[in-house]
Amino acid sequence: MKIGLMGFGVVGRGVYDIVSGRDDMQVKKVLCLEDISLPDAEAVKDFSEIVNDPEIDTVVEAMGGLHPAYDFVRAALEEGKNVVSSNKALVCTFYDELLPLALEKGVRFRCTAAVGGGIGWLSELERSRRVQKIQEVGGIMNGTCNYILDNMTRNGQDYADALAQAQALGYAEANPSTDVDGIDTWHKVILSSNIAFGVSLEKETVPVAGIRNISAEDVANFTAHGYVCKLISTGKRNQDGCSAYVQPTLVKAGEMEAAVPLNFNLITFLGEVSDKMSFYGQGAGRYPTAYNVVEDLCDVLNGKGFYAPYGGKVAATNEEKLCYYVRGDWTGETAEKWGQAVITKPVSVGEMHAWLKENPTAFIAALRES
Ligand code: HSE
Repeated sequence: MKIGLMGFGVVGRGVYDIVSGRDDMQVKKVLCLEDISLPDAEAVKDFSEIVNDPEIDTVVEAMGGLHPAYDFVRAALEEGKNVVSSNKALVCTFYDELLPLALEKGVRFRCTAAVGGGIGWLSELERSRRVQKIQEVGGIMNGTCNYILDNMTRNGQDYADALAQAQALGYAEANPSTDVDGIDTWHKVILSSNIAFGVSLEKETVPVAGIRNISAEDVANFTAHGYVCKLISTGKRNQDGCSAYVQPTLVKAGEMEAAVPLNFNLITFLGEVSDKMSFYGQGAGRYPTAYNVVEDLCDVLNGKGFYAPYGGKVAATNEEKLCYYVRGDWTGETAEKWGQAVITKPVSVGEMHAWLKENPTAFIAALRES
């Protein structure tokens, strides 16, 4: 396999290092705008040198961002090259173009590192769906949010200090909004649901609430009531199709998610035969992420294409009712008061997220039943 590697940052450099010295694959060209020189690959600044190179059969996209990554990936697929990407925003945003195109061209397209970084989550969903119907996917999919929430819970830090520390450690995306407003998790749960359920979720029907408005007082409130707050994603089948959403969620202190420390991820699927299965590990970082890119390259070599058939467009229904912790101007039915905040009576996920849109300074967290 001859590889055109696009991007030589955290992940790209890791891929190059892991592939170096292998007999079955070789990085032939590296697209990088900076001046670099490599012992066994040619550094190029112009993408056409990769897409027009007939010897390159597989392109690795490790650039991040939507453009020009999308334009290059599309051109590579059009040219009949396999593509491996670690870019969840790209794959999720252009799912309905890239998937059908890869199928039409008969090339392989994989993106395991896009969800869970170093965890072989998407490839396990692929294996699992051969045997059973997957009913539910989700969990802690963003290390930055987990790091912030963990620091606030265990070390009593306030939100601003915990965020600054996550940024100093290089966990947060360049724009922290992608992490703290839940966008990164949103991309990941949409992609996971698409693969697990064989659908293409209409993205605008998947609501997201992030952790930006959480305060130290909220966290003290949760601790006093025996709960830990985590940013949890959910995708699940229901009788009308499926539900999918991202929201801060209060889990009981003894539950598995409550114990997830630092920037780790914990992702779970529920299968009709296997029951619950959880995956724990590093959701980011050079070598964990590059490891899964190289796993994908091995799968491409073995003839594996995308994880699931391309499924039709489906709107998330989000009608299930949950009780929520709300700090804000809630005027709906209330079950309890927790200091300045309330616990609502059961309200549908869709309804609560619609309320939050009208009340953007509020903080909400769903109470998860054990
Ligand atoms: N910024 C992400 C996280 C890593 O904090 O989990 C890349 O998905």
